[in-house]
Amino acid sequence: MQTLSVSLGHRSYPIQIGSGIYHDASLLLAGLESQRVAVVTNNTIAEIYLHRLVSTLRASHLSVMEIILPDGEEFKNGATLNIIYDALMRERCDRSTTLIALGGGVIGDMCGYAAATFQRGIPFIQIPTTLLAQVDSSVGGKTGINHPLGKNMIGAFWQPKLVIADTDMLRTLPRRELSAGLAEVIKYGLIRDEAFFYWLEVNMERLTQCESEAIAYAVERSCRNKAEVVAADEFETAKDGGRALLNLGHTFGHAIETALGYGTWLHGEAVGTGMLMAARLSARLGWLADKDVSRISRLLQRAGLPLKAPNIGAEKYLDLMGHDKKNIGGQLRLVLLKSIGEAMTTKDVTTTDVLAAINDCSDD
Ligand code: NAD
Ligand code: GLY
Repeated sequence: MQTLSVSLGHRSYPIQIGSGIYHDASLLLAGLESQRVAVVTNNTIAEIYLHRLVSTLRASHLSVMEIILPDGEEFKNGATLNIIYDALMRERCDRSTTLIALGGGVIGDMCGYAAATFQRGIPFIQIPTTLLAQVDSSVGGKTGINHPLGKNMIGAFWQPKLVIADTDMLRTLPRRELSAGLAEVIKYGLIRDEAFFYWLEVNMERLTQCESEAIAYAVERSCRNKAEVVAADEFETAKDGGRALLNLGHTFGHAIETALGYGTWLHGEAVGTGMLMAARLSARLGWLADKDVSRISRLLQRAGLPLKAPNIGAEKYLDLMGHDKKNIGGQLRLVLLKSIGEAMTTKDVTTTDVLAAINDCSDD
């Protein structure tokens, strides 16, 4: 087992990465300050993992509630969030209740937001069950829900007390979901870890085959990168770079997800194609060599990710990208690549170049 730490002063917390650890009572108890817990999950994950987790907690003499939500990005909204609040109110939970998010990024984001807001804040633990959640969404404290006009537009920063990433859980993950998680893994190589990008070029097939050792290494290296970025710029306020760089490809990707309807394209798929759009735009500006764009495109393809987005139209892109949280004073702010392993934010882009890059990566 590997233990990493997200260093945030008195709000620091460990990320435990290992095999068969999600039902380890001593690990769970180390992150719990209360006798009462509510496990938040969805119907798909409940069937596979809920019973074992709840049995472990009950055997440790904890009082355990189960809150089971419908499965899907299209349910990451206020109505589903209310199911959590209603259950907590019905059971007369107070600030000494700890929430446990058992699921992918959708469950983690919603459970985290419920924890951030219920009675002005209660503790929560992340047990991420998708690759995407293990390498990205469970770490760093971004929580929230979607708005019909924009992804993740309602939310809060609220850090978990503990993250338990059990890589064995990825064995039941559908192929398409594994590929979606690989987009966020590739992201770390692109924005700040050139050696990792090279490692991914050598080892991609081991990852797509879900080979344990390779997966554990990718999760550990991704979390290490994320923890460093978050520790340096928790609230994404750095003027240059900082946490905003973790959003490489997301401005394009969120537009694709929103335009197609939440859940049609997976978040990771949209981010993957969005990163290629960002790479093409970087090349148009003369920042990135064409041969590096080709390396990126090849790696995304080997990860099983789409390279072309459905054509949603220029107007729709510009409208939806205009809602992005990175924008300042209504001006588009994008994360682009200087090279593989180095990213930066810029407002210095023309609409013509942005649309040309989008066009390069869209169906005719
Ligand atoms: P998801 O949570 O929808 O999970 C994907 C699918 O896999 C679901 O159907 C789920 O039920 C199923 N599943 C989960 N674990 C499984 C397992 N072990 N075995 C079998 N099936 C399993 O999707 P995701 O890709 O994990 O998360 C995407 C969400 O994360 C998006 O809403 C995105 O905005 C958010 N996100 C948040 C952050 C952040 O920093 N908070 C970062 C990246 C993404
Ligand atoms: N996934 C982007 C962030 O955590 O900042």
